[in-house]
Amino acid sequence: MSTDQLKIQAATAALEYIKKFDYKIDLGVGTGSTVNELIALLPSVRHHIDAVVSSSEESTKRLEALEFNVKELNQTGDLTLYIDGADECDGHNRLIKGGGGALTREKIIAASSRQFICIVDQTKMVDVLGKFPLPVEVIPMARSYVARQMVKLGGQPIYRDGFVTDNDNQIIDVHNLKILDPVKLESKINQIPGVITNGLFALRKADLTLVAQKSGEIIKQ
Ligand code: 5RP
Repeated sequence: MSTDQLKIQAATAALEYIKKFDYKIDLGVGTGSTVNELIALLPSVRHHIDAVVSSSEESTKRLEALEFNVKELNQTGDLTLYIDGADECDGHNRLIKGGGGALTREKIIAASSRQFICIVDQTKMVDVLGKFPLPVEVIPMARSYVARQMVKLGGQPIYRDGFVTDNDNQIIDVHNLKILDPVKLESKINQIPGVITNGLFALRKADLTLVAQKSGEIIKQ
């Protein structure tokens, strides 16, 4: 099974969790190629959805093209359910996100959602987070300062050159971190002046991860 087919499989499995509600929900929708498959499938469960809050301009464009009612988070209050992909997931549903650069809005939506379901394929599963470079969104003037602090934490920061987030900030990708205590590291990086968000989702992790397997099975963890 190709990676694309695995993404479709994970996205299809998530639809069941939208269908479970017997009322129309406010749905948080993430960003990335796995979520793009979910968005393409969402019209089939349209009658379960009242409004959608999106984590990026890209997802908003796709949702609006399908005529979903895309609202700002400030208009909805807490969301019933948030569905998003991840770059890495460990055995405790702690994640690295932000490969697509939407980590800040994703973290806000995750925090404001009663349930967070992560959809990944088996290639994203790891024992210890950190093989995927950890994205850190920074205020532009703080970039070099934050990079130096990342070196002190044992990482190798690389500026994502030419990339500007939807919030007009920059991203540093921190390589070679072996993240044994994701909650502690997430909090520590959050304390550095100039950091907007880091891509560790451990303080607010996924409630459920749907992992598409090459065998065709979906593992729920
Ligand atoms: C975007 C993200 C995505 O969820 C993550 O990068 C996974 O993307 P994909 O489904 O394309 O592998 O965090 O900021």
